[in-house]
Amino acid sequence: MRIAHRGASSEAPENTLAAIRRAIDLGTPWVEVDVQACADGLVVIHDETLERTTNGHGAVADQPLAALRALDAGHGERIPLPGEVLDLCCGRCGVNLELKGPGVAPLLLPLLREALAGGWSSRDLLASSFDWTQLATLRTTLPRLPLGVLTEQVTGPACAAARAVQASVIGCALEYVDAAAVGAAHGAGCRLWVFTVNSADDAARLAALGVDGVFTDRP
Ligand code: G3P
Ligand code: MG
Repeated sequence: MRIAHRGASSEAPENTLAAIRRAIDLGTPWVEVDVQACADGLVVIHDETLERTTNGHGAVADQPLAALRALDAGHGERIPLPGEVLDLCCGRCGVNLELKGPGVAPLLLPLLREALAGGWSSRDLLASSFDWTQLATLRTTLPRLPLGVLTEQVTGPACAAARAVQASVIGCALEYVDAAAVGAAHGAGCRLWVFTVNSADDAARLAALGVDGVFTDRP
């Protein structure tokens, strides 16, 4: 199963609505984007700083939403809001919101609650993070929200965290995937999704191992 990593980020600026539209046009079943807190809200962007993907400067966390929304995130695209991503994807593909950096969970809760109460099926929504404490925060308030524990390697602590928050997915790095990792994730009651897989050879090897999903820039 393909998950468009930061949207179809090999063909359009990453983490933009254009990249998501392209992923949808390609028939990609899931899209992953990164969500961070700025000075007064949440935005969809990967890095802590603006330089690599926008024409802005400095730390995302220091900037007000209005200033971030005025920036060019590539090809004239704006930095999206998480709600815009959900609106664009609803009924078209699943959405994995990755919580990046501190303080995202409490700000994201109202949007996720509204999504689950509205048109979103819990089958099509996933909140994930390398920061497992933020997943625990989400779980406390939203018992139906599917969660993903992100980790480089599928370790004992990662599996324990997945069980503790009743995660549906463990996401791990391509270089550490083997049969034992697949078995451990499945043993923890999770699907295993692997990042970042951009070659057909890797995708075939992972499928043979029983991996359930691949994050790819080339959906
Ligand atoms: O969620 C999988 C993947 O997106 C994690 O790494 O750095 O690309 O956000 P990164
Ligand atoms: Mg990500």
